[in-house]
Amino acid sequence: MNIAIDGPAGAGKSTIAKILAEKLGMNYIDTGAMYRAITLKAIENNIDFNDVSSLINLVNNTDIKISNGRIYLDSKDVTDKIRTPLVSQKVSKIAAISEIREKMICLQRELAENGNVIMDGRDIGTVVLPNASLKFFITATVEERAKRRFLELKAKGYDVNYDNIKKEILSRDEQDMKRKISPLKLAEDAIVIDTSNKEIEEIIQEILQQHITRR
Ligand code: DC
Repeated sequence: MNIAIDGPAGAGKSTIAKILAEKLGMNYIDTGAMYRAITLKAIENNIDFNDVSSLINLVNNTDIKISNGRIYLDSKDVTDKIRTPLVSQKVSKIAAISEIREKMICLQRELAENGNVIMDGRDIGTVVLPNASLKFFITATVEERAKRRFLELKAKGYDVNYDNIKKEILSRDEQDMKRKISPLKLAEDAIVIDTSNKEIEEIIQEILQQHITRR
């Protein structure tokens, strides 16, 4: 079986997916990391983010691998490098290009082919794995999500401003929800979990309960 986890930025998807994968003995696949890795490569190669054909060309010459929770870009481990504010700011442009999405979707389906995968992203339950056994839509208020991102970046030593982060999250939500191809939207059969003001353990228990019921 596969589990699909979708939702907006900063709702807690990856934290939840990692804990669940550990508890259920499943493989965790972070699809946002794939779009981030391409963004990183485009930044490093000084590619103009409005030059769609160069971006597509770049992706066609890029190797992305995910293994044991680490992401490799052309064989280099970029797991930490893809989390910088600059990558977060640019990634929506990459994720809105249909040719790039098609390639990523193929890769994601291959990774889920043998089952036993927990995959998180924006379009997993709706497009990538419409037949996933269990689908969750994890969400939280924008204030809560901005607060979490602020604390996370501050802990990493970045000089961050809460209002700027909130604006950036709102803009990313808008771009993710309004894009023509694979927009972030609730799958009909997804279970909605609002993580605002909830402890992580409480959320995990809620999801595990659904897992037992639906199995
Ligand atoms: O989950 P994240 O914040 O690391 O995702 C980075 C970006 O990639 C975000 O703007 C949404 C986009 N994304 C997407 O369009 N489809 C996915 N399956 C995963 C992420």
